[in-house]
Amino acid sequence: MIADRMQGFQASGIRKVFDLAQKIKNPINLSIGQPDFDVPDEIKREAVRAIESGFNRYTITQGIPELSEKVLQEAKTEHGIICNSIMMTSGVAGALTLAFLVLINPGDEILVPDPYFVSFKHLIKLCGGDIKFIDTYPDFELTPDRVLSSISPRSKILLINSPSNPTGVVCKPQHIIEICEIANKHNLLIISDEIYRKFVYDTSYQSAGKFYENTLTCNGFSKSYAMTGWRLGSVIGPKKIINEMIKLQQYTYICAPSFAQMAGVKALDIDMSMYIEAYKKKRDFVYNGLKDRYKLIKPEGAFYLFPQVPMGTDEEFATRAIEEDLLIIPGSVFSEKNSHFRLSYAASFETLERGINVLNSMSLLH
Ligand SMILES: Cc1ncc(COP(=O)(O)O)c(C=O)c1O
Repeated sequence: MIADRMQGFQASGIRKVFDLAQKIKNPINLSIGQPDFDVPDEIKREAVRAIESGFNRYTITQGIPELSEKVLQEAKTEHGIICNSIMMTSGVAGALTLAFLVLINPGDEILVPDPYFVSFKHLIKLCGGDIKFIDTYPDFELTPDRVLSSISPRSKILLINSPSNPTGVVCKPQHIIEICEIANKHNLLIISDEIYRKFVYDTSYQSAGKFYENTLTCNGFSKSYAMTGWRLGSVIGPKKIINEMIKLQQYTYICAPSFAQMAGVKALDIDMSMYIEAYKKKRDFVYNGLKDRYKLIKPEGAFYLFPQVPMGTDEEFATRAIEEDLLIIPGSVFSEKNSHFRLSYAASFETLERGINVLNSMSLLH
């Protein structure tokens, strides 16, 4: 009864950790991929106002102009994005799904840096694409050399996710420029997932969309404003591609949620720097707490660390952590390797401290 395309799909490894978490009374939960702050009050009030005033119907497929124009303006002034076509989507997940469906023919090769955000792999497979992983271990840098040595005549798309989930690594500005030159030379489309670009701590951020017009720049409100359940994102790119995506959105998602779009207009006026500053402190707290006992890169963005497991496989380590009430995600959920684990520091300092203590005591056990 179930279609062939579902073969090979497994429930996300993150879900498995969530299921186990249900059984623990007071878990040290460092597995969460969303902010631990709530949506700022002004944004909530705007959402309620929109609903109560009757703004509850379908919007136009590409999104309300008040929002899309503001998102485009922000992308241009803050990040120098050169394309002018934009659409609002049901989260970045919606943007990626539409993009892959519109762009991938069976057999097309898609270059995906490993470690990768878990949906990339499954969505590309769903569309019949062949994934070529770009190994970025041990420093998780997407370098021009690594990209260049992965390209083949079948390569069509290069995915960039900076800052990265799960490593937190931010692509170096000079690398972005050189990678754009390579993409141009080899006629690759870049899909740049920039959902964490507000969470960049001690470096400047460069977007591929500033240097290369054949780029789809995806961004969203889920992480920046903690609106994960509201499903709001955007994609900016070449007109020809955006038009096809709008066409497909009409028959699938129809539009991004109307109240969320209205609230999104408000969100763009809110200064989130206090929240970002707090995450930087948490990054430092966890990094400094673990660096003497774990091999780990100090990430410059997002809210994740991706340390190496001190012994055994990632799954064995994550299972042992659960015995200590600690929830982390095995690295193989995000990678073809099984040597690391993802830890999210989107949690209270108290939880982080408990987590650090457990991890440090686990590192002493071998
Ligand atoms: C790299 C990355 N892209 C996309 C998404 C999905 O975001 P959205 O909620 O906007 O669909 C996530 C969520 O975890 C993510 O980490």
